[in-house]
Amino acid sequence: MSDALQRKNEHLSLFEKYYDPNQKNDFDEIRLVPTLIPELNLSEVDPTIDILGSHFLHSFFINAMTGGSSRAKEINSQLATIANKYHLAMAVGSQKIGIIDQNTKDSFSVVREKNPDGFIIANLSANQKIEHVKEAIKMIDANAIQLHLNSIQELVNSEGDRDFHLLNNIENIVNSIEQPVIIKSVGFGINPNDVKRLSDIGVKVFDVSGTGGTNFIKIENQQNKTHHLDYLEELGLSTVESLLAAKKYAVNLIGSGGVRNPLDIIKAHVLGAKLVGISGTFLHPLIKRDPDSLETMITEWIEMIPKIMLMIGTKNLEELKQAPYIPSSKIANSVNFLDKN
Ligand code: FNR
Repeated sequence: MSDALQRKNEHLSLFEKYYDPNQKNDFDEIRLVPTLIPELNLSEVDPTIDILGSHFLHSFFINAMTGGSSRAKEINSQLATIANKYHLAMAVGSQKIGIIDQNTKDSFSVVREKNPDGFIIANLSANQKIEHVKEAIKMIDANAIQLHLNSIQELVNSEGDRDFHLLNNIENIVNSIEQPVIIKSVGFGINPNDVKRLSDIGVKVFDVSGTGGTNFIKIENQQNKTHHLDYLEELGLSTVESLLAAKKYAVNLIGSGGVRNPLDIIKAHVLGAKLVGISGTFLHPLIKRDPDSLETMITEWIEMIPKIMLMIGTKNLEELKQAPYIPSSKIANSVNFLDKN
């Protein structure tokens, strides 16, 4: 197995080693305000959403994780089967390996095989050439592509990329392909100034993927043989901070990073997210137990989301965006501070 594939496989086992189902995060710093007179019947609540040129039955989706090895193929196949059954959108992990090594392509294309009509999102680093972007889209007949911004992760990786001149490349990609482009963080959140600069060059959709869930500094740290950079583990903005800080720009936001349950999904919507992505919380039951456990989780979530919407008296996602909430003073302070800078 090549070094790159080995590293990716290790990501899966290290993810599981550090996964903590009881992890606290900034979603706990947001309180929603229920109404006891919703004046709604549950059947009137509509959790669907139109975005990325499509109509989604569910506003949450399986976010980018894996591809490359045979284990990754098995995981992608299981995730895609579930995505197909429950009509969830799904992103694959970085397809760079699939472009370099033809033998690994099937670990990505399996998601289209198992989910012929679903909404599937390609994934590559934002520094990749336009030909590679087109190839990644073609590999899985993707409906959209995520370009991830992972400079922090790469710099912590002793063999990672070192060149991060990205804006011209992103602008070129946005202008050259017909599928929607999503700019995505990888668990470090997104600086509102970055949202502004990217929006100025034509980016319309951002997955803020903030801190509070999977922490790639922790994972990469374990793979570094020579030095441990534990002190960088706190770097980044949380999903809650990223959403609140980016809300003022006229862009479409996707909330991901540390989403643990349906209440976190609803909170992300209240804070401005149109879609909500989940990686770690879905990967854990799949690795620890089996696809049935993940299916059970997803069916419960699908049932609970409209119920929580009703608890706070909102009948659709548009109303949810206007719902009242109380941020802790910690969150209010950081967002206030970010706004002034
Ligand atoms: C990821 N993530 C990720 N993101 C990306 O854009 N390309 C990738 O290849 C990967 N690979 C990957 C592997 C594994 C094992 C995990 C758990 C995650 C990052 C992911 O999409 C997401 O941004 C973060 O994991 C934060 O979300 P959660 O895990 O807290 O829900």
